Amino acid sequence: MDRGERSVVMGLIRLLPRSGSQQPAERLGDALSSPSPAAPLAEPEPLVVSEPAPGSVTPVASPAPVPDDPAPVRQGTATRVIALANQKGGVAKTTTTLNLGVALREIGHRVLLVDLDPQGNLTMSQGLNPDVIERSMFDVLVHRLPIAEVIEQREVDLAVASIDLAGAELALSAMIGRERSLEKALVDVRASYDYVLVDTPPSLGLLTINAFVAATGVIVPVQCEYLSLRGLVENLNPHVGVEGIVATMFDGRTLHSREAIEILEENFGELVYRTRIRKTVRYAEAPVKGSSVLKYDPSGAAAEAYRELAREIVAAKEAEDGAQARKHA
Ligand SMILES: Nc1ncnc2c1ncn2[C@@H]1O[C@H](COP(=O)(O)OP(=O)(O)O)[C@@H](O)[C@H]1O
Ligand SMILES: [Mg+2]
Repeated sequence: MDRGERSVVMGLIRLLPRSGSQQPAERLGDALSSPSPAAPLAEPEPLVVSEPAPGSVTPVASPAPVPDDPAPVRQGTATRVIALANQKGGVAKTTTTLNLGVALREIGHRVLLVDLDPQGNLTMSQGLNPDVIERSMFDVLVHRLPIAEVIEQREVDLAVASIDLAGAELALSAMIGRERSLEKALVDVRASYDYVLVDTPPSLGLLTINAFVAATGVIVPVQCEYLSLRGLVENLNPHVGVEGIVATMFDGRTLHSREAIEILEENFGELVYRTRIRKTVRYAEAPVKGSSVLKYDPSGAAAEAYRELAREIVAAKEAEDGAQARKHA
């Protein structure tokens, strides 16, 4: 079974119980031991596709079916739109979005990053201040401002977030086609990019759903920490394909980290990228300088890890495309 055929195994992710919340502890075993699509739905807001339109998702909990609002015609069909998602915060979604994006750029790909997190960490990590940005992804999603107008040219192109984005969930919820807003926004620019990487907030609200709908695949960064694995749960969306799982903050000196990798590989097999992103303070230092780790410390191991991940992701896709082509030959 190749990566493509495993179109989703698992939806993803849900928030780890915040301290004080009532999440049952026994879910850990279930979550990790049953990656089967037949796993019971247990999420409060699972994603289930009501129509088999490729790439589309509709939250089961949405009050009414979305009225006629056809999927936008996709140009730039070779463009890979990848959502970086995990409902747990602090697992390196933003760090991976930026550094993977810059690494893809280094090997010649045209890359757009989209900051869909109201916290604006991705925007900040390129030296921009979300508090003073006037036009952002909020205007793109809610007011249909062309996305080109919020793209800043930094190490790679970046569609910026501002503080307003926190209001997008509410504003979007009243809109027709609220799940497709990002997908539509990308229509105008996707032909200009080979990779669009979308950084998402640590929640399964409409912003993340927009990222899933627009995405051709999802990459899930997972911290190599036992409790973090609790965040990984199937939720049955066969149309949001998890392309891969990136193990982050890996510390090879600890048994704990090695065991976390074992658990991941036992449960998710080939979906786990071979590249491990090790724990190092370089990743925290770089954004303070408004730069990726590839720019901050170009010859360091931290930069090299994301280069290796970029090569692995590109190679996996090429292998998959080759297999598809042979199948149809
Ligand atoms: N491999 C790593 N080693 C050590 N610290 C890391 C690593 N990756 C990310 N970090 C740091 O961990 C924190 C959370 O990372 P971030 O990318 O913001 O996570 P998320 O977007 O999932 O919330 C940040 O301070 C970041 O600099
Ligand atoms: Mg983040």
